[in-house]
Amino acid sequence: MRTVRSIRTMQNISRDLAAEGKRIGLVPTMGFLHEGHLSLIGRARRHADVVIVTIFVNPAQFAPHEDLNKYPRDEKGDLKKIKAAGGDIVFIPRARDIYPEDFQTYVTVENLTRTLEGTSRPTHFRGVTTIVAKLFNITRPDVAVFGMKDYQQAIVLKQMTRDLGYPVKYIIAPTIREKDGLAMSSRNRYFTPKQRPEALCLYFALRTAREMVTAGIKGTARIEKEMREVIKATCPTAKSDYIAFTDLTSLEPVTTVKERTVCSLAVWVHGVRLIDNMMLSGGPPGS
Ligand code: PAF
Repeated sequence: MRTVRSIRTMQNISRDLAAEGKRIGLVPTMGFLHEGHLSLIGRARRHADVVIVTIFVNPAQFAPHEDLNKYPRDEKGDLKKIKAAGGDIVFIPRARDIYPEDFQTYVTVENLTRTLEGTSRPTHFRGVTTIVAKLFNITRPDVAVFGMKDYQQAIVLKQMTRDLGYPVKYIIAPTIREKDGLAMSSRNRYFTPKQRPEALCLYFALRTAREMVTAGIKGTARIEKEMREVIKATCPTAKSDYIAFTDLTSLEPVTTVKERTVCSLAVWVHGVRLIDNMMLSGGPPGS
């Protein structure tokens, strides 16, 4: 496995791989990898000859008050995990190379970013789409894999890929959960062992929503009310940012659960903002 830090070197490698007819798979990450990321690498492996994993804690997607500086990092551990998971190249660019001092060009997806996460984090997606466009340009992937855990991000990036005409097969992989249901996230490490069980409030609320739908209750107002009760019972100090019911791909809100309805939520748990989502009908729980 090779580690590359220079943009120029990465561009040259990608160009040579393409010239050799090799299919390139890309898994962009911000590091501090867990099983969820490793499953994305596994997916990329199935569709590509060479898998490039990027590690870049992207300053452009953090607002000034967010956790950029304390975002967990473990490059040495990440490299071991990527190797074991079948990654071939790890691209770790420097922030000053990605965003030189006079940087002023951003990629923005319009409507899809105005809802859900975009409401609370208005500059977030501009940062995500800009870095992923840059990573696409540098690594020239044939396949790129993103996780359903960051549901809106996956939909926004899919739109960007289509709108900008990148010749990339776009794969959204299912959320990987801990045994007890907690969606894997690098931010879970912020919790003390005592706080950790309360982080399950998102999963329990989503599970309740799905059970209600299975029992024939389709009105989202009633489901949301029940979800709020479950959150409060699991983590009395939790503060919900939003609970939303939307169409899987348009992100349009729905008031009655239908075939492609996704419930997504963001909740502050002991000072950590967690997000999670679940398809409420069709697809496996947690998908
Ligand atoms: O999901 C993430 O880890 C990041 O948002 C991404 C896609 C790597 C862009 O920085």
